Amino acid sequence: MRRPLIAGNWKMNMTDGETKKFLDKLKSLKNSDNVEVCIISPFTSLKTLTEFLNETEISTGAQNLYYEDNGAFTGEISPIMLKDLGVDYVIIGHSERRTIFKEDDELLNKKIIAALNHNLKPILCCGENLEQRENNIQEKIVENQIRSDLKGISEEELYSKLVIAYEPIWAIGTGKTASSDDAQSMCKFIRNLLTKLYCEELADSVRIQYGGSVKPENVAEIMSKDDIDGALVGGASLDAESFSKLINYGK
Ligand code: 13P
Repeated sequence: MRRPLIAGNWKMNMTDGETKKFLDKLKSLKNSDNVEVCIISPFTSLKTLTEFLNETEISTGAQNLYYEDNGAFTGEISPIMLKDLGVDYVIIGHSERRTIFKEDDELLNKKIIAALNHNLKPILCCGENLEQRENNIQEKIVENQIRSDLKGISEEELYSKLVIAYEPIWAIGTGKTASSDDAQSMCKFIRNLLTKLYCEELADSVRIQYGGSVKPENVAEIMSKDDIDGALVGGASLDAESFSKLINYGK
């Protein structure tokens, strides 16, 4: 049985002070035992986040890393630094990094390898843009991303670590959610691809999230699908009350 993972990706939002206020509010709200909950903050809030949450069941994540351990890479953050803070997850290949910061699959592959080498769990994001969806090549796009991003990585390295987030770009921050059937169909496609690339046992164990305009109002419908094991939530994760509703969707 896969335990669903609901993660809030704060993107470039929340100062350290705002993080403290968010966490104070979250303390008084009840969280669900049925799902794993994770907060993914900017680097500047990670120390506050991990210190506060290490006492709880809530996991923490970073939004990016660089693949080297240390050295002359001005402005970058290494897996060692994240591990030292007690961070559990790291997003790799978010569409905003792929498009705005021109991160390609070769770089993302190195980042995933670095995360795994340092025992950080990568949340690998994939997804097509609107034009690709309209041309009905979304499966090809997602397949190419996953094949290239996982290149050379063995099955053993991925067990209990890899999470995949399917985030169609046209659904991110637009209020336009993919229909739960379309989201399920792509998540199933991804699981079948993992069977092809590795084996059924690994494919069955990997959690596949959906992301793109997930809100308290639509989370239960999305989570009801067989191959969707969680959500990666942007906007709706920034408010403690809305985040609490999301993680308690089943109640
Ligand atoms: P929104 O939930 O704001 O659409 O963002 C989704 C996302 O990109 C999460 O990583």
